[in-house]
Amino acid sequence: MFLSSVMCGFQTTNQQRAFEHCAKEYTDEFLNGYNATIMAFGQVGAGKTYTMAGDTKIHVHRGFIQRAIGQVMEEKRAHPEAGIVVYMSYLEIYEERMYDLLQQRSTDLMIIEENGLIDIRGLAKIRVETEAQAIKWFNEGEKQRSYGQHLLNQQSSRSHTFFTLYMERRVGRFHTEHDTIVAKLTLVDLAGAERLKKTNVERGGRMRKEACTINKSISYLETAIYALRVGQNYVPFRQGKASTLLKESLGGNCKTMIMICLWLEDCFYDETVNSLRFAQKVKFLKTYPFRNKKLDCATATKRFHINNYTSFTTNCKSSTRSSFEGCVAGSAWLIF
Ligand SMILES: Nc1ncnc2c1ncn2[C@@H]1O[C@H](COP(=O)(O)OP(=O)(O)O)[C@@H](O)[C@H]1O
Ligand SMILES: [Mg+2]
Repeated sequence: MFLSSVMCGFQTTNQQRAFEHCAKEYTDEFLNGYNATIMAFGQVGAGKTYTMAGDTKIHVHRGFIQRAIGQVMEEKRAHPEAGIVVYMSYLEIYEERMYDLLQQRSTDLMIIEENGLIDIRGLAKIRVETEAQAIKWFNEGEKQRSYGQHLLNQQSSRSHTFFTLYMERRVGRFHTEHDTIVAKLTLVDLAGAERLKKTNVERGGRMRKEACTINKSISYLETAIYALRVGQNYVPFRQGKASTLLKESLGGNCKTMIMICLWLEDCFYDETVNSLRFAQKVKFLKTYPFRNKKLDCATATKRFHINNYTSFTTNCKSSTRSSFEGCVAGSAWLIF
């Protein structure tokens, strides 16, 4: 599957319509057992943080994160028989260092790779039961984020953030058995590349250093995307933290949507063209999503034996017709 869509948002829309048009479908897929990522990209001040986190104080301005939480918790409430379990985590990458926003900016985190899958050791995954509880945790995390002020944005987020929901649910499989499906939904607010001349930050100051780190990390991401697109054998995901964490979303088991935020003023023509070039590059990346099933040891063993039994009976069929029929009669009530 190609990275399905690259969205352009205009200020004439509102948060509800933007969510329904862009993110609702991906939240549905997540609830259906597919990993999904929704990512905002664009120049500084174009509305990425507003789209993802919205205004935490005004209800109608709440962003994709709160709305996705609402949708997931509504599904959990409406389907008690599915036994939906939801966890959440909130990670910030500031100056290439990782902070756990749900654990008082704990830095005791490490990226690990197991069987080709990226995970973060030490990142808190909080179990949440209700929408109110999840929003409360999210708001607490928001308070821990790093912000700065410059010419283009009064409250500019100076980091990349990864908000993730993890879900586990039962889906029926015949009368007596069920499958457990698991999935994660990641909402990524990438810090925007910024022209130092335009943000007019102090030479040698903290914000200039932050801007350089952000620009470097975005360029690492672009290098990895370019390598993926041209099919290079080696894709340098590991150059930057954000690109490492996006490995699965850009070329693995994930349904990914990238939302491009643009600031359509003449003086930002260069930035707009750059953002659209990025969109063009990522649009043709391929991902390979599948429905994630979790098998516990007992179920896996049971199914293994049943499959063996089935192939045994099939072998019987080819050797002696009558004995096969006997086997079928005996196994008719076995569920597999
Ligand atoms: N669609 C929008 N409607 C209303 N205000 C917006 C919208 N997009 C951005 N803003 C406002 O513009 C400012 C900059 O947006 P922000 O999301 O912080 O930019 P970015 O994260 O891309 O740097 C914020 O004050 C935000 O509230
Ligand atoms: Mg921002």
